[in-house]
Amino acid sequence: MSNGFLGYDASLMLDVVVCALVLVVPTLAYSIYVVKIRRNYVRHRNVQVALGAVLLVTVLAFEIDLQVVHGGWENVVNRDPDEPRLPPERLEFVQQILRVHLVFAISTPLLWAATLLLAWRRFPRPPFPSAHSRLHKRLGWLSTADIALTSVTGLMFYYVAFVA
Ligand code: HEM
Repeated sequence: MSNGFLGYDASLMLDVVVCALVLVVPTLAYSIYVVKIRRNYVRHRNVQVALGAVLLVTVLAFEIDLQVVHGGWENVVNRDPDEPRLPPERLEFVQQILRVHLVFAISTPLLWAATLLLAWRRFPRPPFPSAHSRLHKRLGWLSTADIALTSVTGLMFYYVAFVA
């Protein structure tokens, strides 16, 4: 199945990643609710570690599929070079959205990994507020904003490239 399952002309892995981008925001909102309101630090840690692992595997599979199997996103958008779906001026516009998306998509895993690793090493076990809380809250909210913007701009890219 090379056309995905959402009914558009994208690839299977693009559709998988779009679903992951939609699901990540409510999952993160739940995790922050759990830590901030319920003060359930163990569940917050477990959700964050699981989310990190799922996103890592999904993004790796997506990149291998897009770069190695398809040879770049242009080949997915314009599958048939004789009959391109997007003309050059539209392709240029989609490329601009993609550039903005990549700023967030590249910084997110770095920030996410730093937040996760520092939390893992510096919080007591089981996790509890400590001297690391101040830095963790800053990194945690930054990571949250970064991944939310990755999600919004990723969905914008999918929309302009395959839906509109
Ligand atoms: C990238 C992964 C993570 C993100 C994005 C994240 C995000 C957050 C955010 C936004 C808060 C602040 C909530 C508030 O304003 O009160 C928070 C609090 C907290 N997180 Fe995380 N977190 C992550 C991973 C972890 C991990 C792996 C642990 C444990 C090992 C952990 C333990 C805690 C604790 C103990 C607090 C409460 C801090 C306090 O209220 O003093 N977090 N996290």
